[in-house]
Amino acid sequence: MSNTSPELKKVVAEADDFLPLLGTDHIELYCGNAKQSAYYYMAAWGFQPLAFCGLETGIRDRVSYVLRQDKITLVLTSPLVADGPINDHINRHGDGVKAIALWVDDATKSWKETTSRGAESVLEPTERSDKDGQVVLSGIKTYGDTVHTFVERKNYEGIFMPGYQAWNPVQVSQPLGLQFVDHMVGNVGWGEMDTWTAFYAQVMGFAQLISFDDKDISTEYTALMSKVMSNGNGRIKFPINEPAEGRKKSQIEEYIDFYQGAGVQHIAVATSNIIETVTALRDRGIEFLKVPSSYYDTVLDRVGSIDEDLAPLRELGILIDRDDEGYLLQIFTKPVVDRPTMFFEIIQRKGAKSFGKGNFKALFEAIEREQETRGTL
Ligand code: FE2
Repeated sequence: MSNTSPELKKVVAEADDFLPLLGTDHIELYCGNAKQSAYYYMAAWGFQPLAFCGLETGIRDRVSYVLRQDKITLVLTSPLVADGPINDHINRHGDGVKAIALWVDDATKSWKETTSRGAESVLEPTERSDKDGQVVLSGIKTYGDTVHTFVERKNYEGIFMPGYQAWNPVQVSQPLGLQFVDHMVGNVGWGEMDTWTAFYAQVMGFAQLISFDDKDISTEYTALMSKVMSNGNGRIKFPINEPAEGRKKSQIEEYIDFYQGAGVQHIAVATSNIIETVTALRDRGIEFLKVPSSYYDTVLDRVGSIDEDLAPLRELGILIDRDDEGYLLQIFTKPVVDRPTMFFEIIQRKGAKSFGKGNFKALFEAIEREQETRGTL
């Protein structure tokens, strides 16, 4: 690939790709009321209904709604019974990501390669079939109660996977230009950073992409450490955050307290027109973190010239950062669940391959203002 960065080439060369990943297959969230969550993601976020399983398909203990927008697939799952593992997950964590499902060519090999390197299995390779073909699933644990499912669908022609039926409710909204999952960030507990970066390196063959320590990204109160783990082809990027000592409680610690442990902090979704996408999201009631207007007085001194007019970026609160290869535009929602835990990032890359480090200080100060209102700073 001619547009691959030198840094990424190095990663590709170094990574022992015993676990080739084709992309993010889907993200499964456990939630208290999947039906209403589905409406939220359709009406506000422009996801389209795709598939369903539950009582009508012979499933007695849970219901799942599958939504899609371009290459992003969400599965929203709620229990239909008391006292099961889904209930336990929701009771402990609130609504949140249960599974980051990875699209693979061979789910059996993926399971063998990872479990033989120390991953704990949650699902041995399992074949599921219907009239449209066959899907093979397997799964391993990652941080907290989160899992990675490996999905092999090369012999499947159906809409999602066996066990699901098409779901065609009245369409409530048009897509908003969300294209694919750019990265997904995990928050882990005190002292757990090395454990989980080593897990992604040794068990999954990932390499560390960029590093910055707590001195780079602390504000007066918040401090954290962050490392980005990437798979060999760069399609899957998992930044990992760990809290660091600050004067007051960091946002990562707040997350860990309310999520009751490690879990997915944010899902970054890519758009090719962030101004249009964020305008539409805001019109539909999605709340974003706001940086002070003064951020825009000096931002172009830091990042240089950009293609976009500054006025709509300032009006929407979109942040800008630059690295050696280009720039990026990004914005973060407030938490999208009841607890101050999971949120979304909208990102438009214009060459940059990094994650917006230059915005961290302004961003964390915005988060601290939110924490102040929650009494959790
Ligand atoms: Fe991010």
